[in-house]
Amino acid sequence: MLDLGCGTGRIADPLALEGHDVLAVDESADMLAEVQHARTLCASIGSLSLDTRFDVVLLLSHLINGTDGEELLEVAAKHVTGRGSVLVQRLEPGRDWRPGAVIQGDVTISLDSIRVSGSIIEATTEYVLGERSWRQPWRMRVIDDAELSAMTKRLGLTIELLDGAWVLLRPAT
Ligand SMILES: C[S@@+](CC[C@H](N)C(=O)[O-])C[C@H]1O[C@@H](n2cnc3c(N)ncnc32)[C@H](O)[C@@H]1O
Repeated sequence: MLDLGCGTGRIADPLALEGHDVLAVDESADMLAEVQHARTLCASIGSLSLDTRFDVVLLLSHLINGTDGEELLEVAAKHVTGRGSVLVQRLEPGRDWRPGAVIQGDVTISLDSIRVSGSIIEATTEYVLGERSWRQPWRMRVIDDAELSAMTKRLGLTIELLDGAWVLLRPAT
């Protein structure tokens, strides 16, 4: 498995512990330092060109909704085996963007300063852990089903499953 933009290994490590051979890729050495079980590679996804092909390629955390989203999906497509799968997590089209908060373990994650302009969403995510807090402003573009369909076609992929934020792709035969 290839986990593109793996962060601290939140997904890659449990998969490796289950016995999968996982290569976790991230451009942040600090994030990769937290990965404990998957193999790691510090690299920018856009410049990735490995000799290996993977049965499963993960492109999660809405990386596809960034300005270089199609480029990143192209890299994912290039690294999947002919009968393999690419799992993508995108911003859910049609989502009603409102301020709100969720609690995940010890961390409270909230969304505020939301601006929606067509397919462009700008907002700030705040993480609060005890006395400490971090604010991350972001800007992303929603990719609806029609655009996703055109994009995957250009990249030689077919849509196997489409479930809101979750997209399972396979190389076109
Ligand atoms: C929000 S974190 C999510 C990590 C992981 N996918 C998860 O779900 O826990 C996104 C990660 O993607 C990495 N990232 C973003 N763009 C990247 C790129 N172009 N190349 C490599 N890593 C990237 C960031 O450094 C960050 O660690």
